[in-house]
Amino acid sequence: MNVRVVVGYSLSQRFLHWATVLLVLFNLLLPDGMNAWQRLVRHGGTPSPEQIASANIHAYVGIAILLMTVLRLGLRFVQGVPLKASDEPAIFRFAARLAHASLYLLLLALPASGIAVYYFGAQALGSLHADVLKLILWIVIVAHVFGALVHQFYWKTDVLRRMTVG
Ligand code: HEM
Ligand code: HEM
Repeated sequence: MNVRVVVGYSLSQRFLHWATVLLVLFNLLLPDGMNAWQRLVRHGGTPSPEQIASANIHAYVGIAILLMTVLRLGLRFVQGVPLKASDEPAIFRFAARLAHASLYLLLLALPASGIAVYYFGAQALGSLHADVLKLILWIVIVAHVFGALVHQFYWKTDVLRRMTVG
């Protein structure tokens, strides 16, 4: 996607980045309510109101992530994004671009597959959501954070700064 190039991320872009991080970590680390709902439904049981409520937390957090991701992509388009650091070797600039594109795709695909399972009974997509996409997301997050730390402490660029204090 062609986007405008600017010097930094806007306050809204930075807020959405860090709010998304918190919500994604919440859903990755605390999916137990949704898992219990899924186990019960798969075995033909009827979830109690408490079980539905705790599964709904996972669903609503995931839907919030989806909406925030759509908003972020819109902001990228309207407000632009800063250039990748020029002192970084071309291969790493490519890796960063690939990681960011994959993160956006995953932040759309995970909620979409979850919604298909939870609201539309597409049980076949359960393992895509809970095994495949989850694992890929973990791998890309680890690579992304490693990249950010290398920038900060090895290349000593301002990349982390422009996504935090701006
Ligand atoms: C980025 C957003 C999301 C993330 C990171 C996420 C993450 C997860 C994780 C880690 C699990 C448990 C996997 C395991 O036990 O190892 C899970 C299960 C599940 N999630 Fe999500 N989720 C997201 C969004 C959603 C949404 C929006 C919905 C529904 C509206 C949803 C519905 C489900 C369901 C039904 C399961 C159980 C699937 C199964 O075990 O077959 N998720 N999710
Ligand atoms: C759930 C975890 C995370 C997700 C899903 C995520 C997602 C993203 C995405 C999609 C972008 C691209 C923004 C754009 O240009 O439109 C980005 C940028 C960035 N993220 Fe993350 N991020 C996560 C965690 C982190 C963490 C923990 C750090 C810090 C250690 C971090 C630091 C950065 C930085 C510095 C940038 C700007 C990169 C640049 O300007 O080239 N992220 N993140």
